[in-house]
Amino acid sequence: MNTDKCEPISENPVDALLKTQQYFECELNKLVDEIATEEAYRFSKIKSRNDSRTEHVQIVMYRHTNGSGRLFGGALLQMIDVVGAICARRHAGTEVTTVAIDHLEFKAPAQINSTLVLISEVESVGRTSMKVKISTFVEQLNGSREEINTAHATFVALDRQNRPTPVPRLLEAQ
Ligand SMILES: CC(C)(COP(=O)(O)OP(=O)(O)OC[C@H]1O[C@@H](n2cnc3c(N)ncnc32)[C@H](O)[C@@H]1OP(=O)(O)O)[C@@H](O)C(=O)NCCC(=O)NCCS
Repeated sequence: MNTDKCEPISENPVDALLKTQQYFECELNKLVDEIATEEAYRFSKIKSRNDSRTEHVQIVMYRHTNGSGRLFGGALLQMIDVVGAICARRHAGTEVTTVAIDHLEFKAPAQINSTLVLISEVESVGRTSMKVKISTFVEQLNGSREEINTAHATFVALDRQNRPTPVPRLLEAQ
C-alpha cells in the first residue's frame, strides 16, 4: 500500500467514523422520507379510466400465426400482456409486473392480414394491484369490429427497489 499520499488524521478517528455514520444515517432517512412522501402522494391521487385507457393496432403477420395460418394464441397473449401493462403503468405512474392472467377467452379466430385492435382499461384497483380488462377486436375495412378475445389480468406497481407500491385510487363514476 502506498502511504506517501495519506493525509495526517486531524481528528480522532473514532469521531471521524461517527461523523461518517451520522452522515449516512441522515442521507438514508432523507431517502426513506422521500419514498414515503412519493407513495403517500401517489396513493392520494384519483385517476379516471380514461387517463390510462390504451389502444394498440396490429396487422396479423406470418410471425403471429400458427401452422393453420391463423393467429397464434401465444402471440396474442404477448400483445395482451404488453397492452395491459402499459395501461397499468399509466395508471400507477410506476413500473409494473404481471402477477396473474385471471381470465382469457378466445371467442373467434383471426386470419393472417387481419387488423387487430387491442383496448385495455383499468377495471378496479387494490392498494398496490390493478385489475385490467383487455379486449381484442378484428377490424374490417369498413370499420366494423368483432371482439375475438377478452382477457382480465392483474398487475402490481413496483417501486425503485421492485417492491409493491401504492397506486392512485380509481374514479368509479365515468
Ligand atoms: C408481484 C409480486 C412483486 C407481489 O409480491 P408479493 O410478495 O406477493 O406482494 P404482496 O403480498 O404485498 O401483494 C401485492 C399485491 O399483489 C396482489 N397479488 C399477489 N399475488 C396475486 C395473485 N396471484 N393474483 C392476484 N393478485 C395478487 C396482492 O393481493 C396485493 O394486492 P393489493 O396491494 O392491491 O392488496 C411478486 O409476486 C412477483 O414478483 N411475482 C412475479 C412477477 C413476474 O415475474 N411477472 C412476470 C411474469 S412472466
